[in-house]
Amino acid sequence: MEASEFTKTTAMPRIGEKAPSFKAVTTQGEINFPEQYEGSWVILFSHPADFTPVCTSEFMTFATMEQQFADANCKLVGLSVDGLYSHIAWLRTIKEKIEYKQMKDVEVKFPLIEDITMEVANKYGMIQPGEATTKAVRAVFFIDPKGIIRAIIYYPLSLGRNFDELYRALIAMQTADAFAVATPADWRPGDDCIVPTAGSCGVAKERMEGKEDIKCYDWFFCTRKIDKETVLNKIIRKK
Ligand code: BEZ
Repeated sequence: MEASEFTKTTAMPRIGEKAPSFKAVTTQGEINFPEQYEGSWVILFSHPADFTPVCTSEFMTFATMEQQFADANCKLVGLSVDGLYSHIAWLRTIKEKIEYKQMKDVEVKFPLIEDITMEVANKYGMIQPGEATTKAVRAVFFIDPKGIIRAIIYYPLSLGRNFDELYRALIAMQTADAFAVATPADWRPGDDCIVPTAGSCGVAKERMEGKEDIKCYDWFFCTRKIDKETVLNKIIRKK
């Protein structure tokens, strides 16, 4: 069957929109999404199938980093179109049997949604028929504490995600919110941030320059130093 025969016309959620609501059964009980996550960032991500190697490497990596995300006020929620008992058996196998890249005895404590009907996957545009009609692609939705979708990343089935990049993106978005800045290419905490310029007629550069910690490359491109400690003190929860 042609992929196009499966294509649904439902709109996919987009950046800046409210995350679509759903209730679902997970490995950690029922969830009411995104309402019960109000006040936290949440990463909702899909994987193609339980008991597959790329997904296993991803779950082990994400589970190992769960506390790091939690310290940045971010919870994780996984989804695939497999059933609950498959999820439970797969996560148990990961914990009991898989040793990979110095990760072992890895317990996945975040909820993994069962979505046999593909209702949630379809709502979030995770079924992309050109890639697969019976599996979700590797989608990542960053949802902010008010339930707004702030970033979306899609990967194909064969490509495992870079979880350092997901963490970097989370911290960058939180930094943008906290300091009213944008973050340039490859930004990491401690790098200069981009400040909004006041206008488009050349006055902005003169107005900005001379201000402490501001550097202008041209009228439309000014940066501000925010040191790493200042960023992390604001964003990372104290233990
Ligand atoms: C994997 O996770 O290894 C995988 C899953 C579905 C298709 C291809 C690879």
